[in-house]
Amino acid sequence: MKTGEFHNPQRKTIGRTIWHYDAVESTNDTLKELLEQDLEEGLVVWADRQAAGKGRHGRAWASPPGGLYISILLRPKEAHAQVLGLLAGMPLVKTLRHLGVFATLKWPNDAIFQGRKLAGILSEGVYRRDTYHVILGVGVNTNLDLERLPPDVQARATSLKREVNLYVANEECLEYFLEQLDDVYSRYVHTPAPLMMKEYRGACGTIGKRVSVDTAKGKVLGKATDVTPAGALIVVDDKEGRHEIVDGTVEYVE
Ligand code: BTN
Repeated sequence: MKTGEFHNPQRKTIGRTIWHYDAVESTNDTLKELLEQDLEEGLVVWADRQAAGKGRHGRAWASPPGGLYISILLRPKEAHAQVLGLLAGMPLVKTLRHLGVFATLKWPNDAIFQGRKLAGILSEGVYRRDTYHVILGVGVNTNLDLERLPPDVQARATSLKREVNLYVANEECLEYFLEQLDDVYSRYVHTPAPLMMKEYRGACGTIGKRVSVDTAKGKVLGKATDVTPAGALIVVDDKEGRHEIVDGTVEYVE
């Protein structure tokens, strides 16, 4: 149920309006349903919990109360959607650092701390009424009690609460993130994507690491050497084979 609405006219595009819900199935799906209406670009749907939160590659995103769950409506050029999903990882990591945890960015757009995931992004492209939209869904483990996550997730996840041992208001995390994303997005609209990806490459902690990447075509093991201007991860395997990976799940290996 929708429980509130907030406005910030200072923002250029993102977060000028926020619709707050107590509980939804998935904020991405709620926003998709709302696309039947005329909505302004940058609208944020924010929920206190999700009954069926979604992660990348069809995985579930456990969403108990305490976490931050939002989806943002964007209308970029379709050709830029992939790059945009990656770029959103930069303000996410910046936000977590601002709140006291030195998170790093794992390709494509996970925020991790000491090998454990703190936040993730699910970017979905949808056509409605002849217009292309991107729904950028962001989940942050802010004040989560990790015991409330499924056991297999607990082992790989952490939260701000656990790492800084302080209560971090979701409002503060949300405000800071939206401000940073608004800034990235406004620069992105006027900057050629390859230039923005240069900034991403500087921020991406995966480059230089030995990785195992789960892809639709199987596992790739090797060294991550670069991210292309289109956002693909380059991995060079032990036989000097070069792999350009557009989609996959990265694990760091020793
Ligand atoms: C991932 O790392 O797998 C992406 C996780 C994205 C989770 C967020 S929570 C808010 C939004 N609504 C969803 O159902 N998923 C995203």
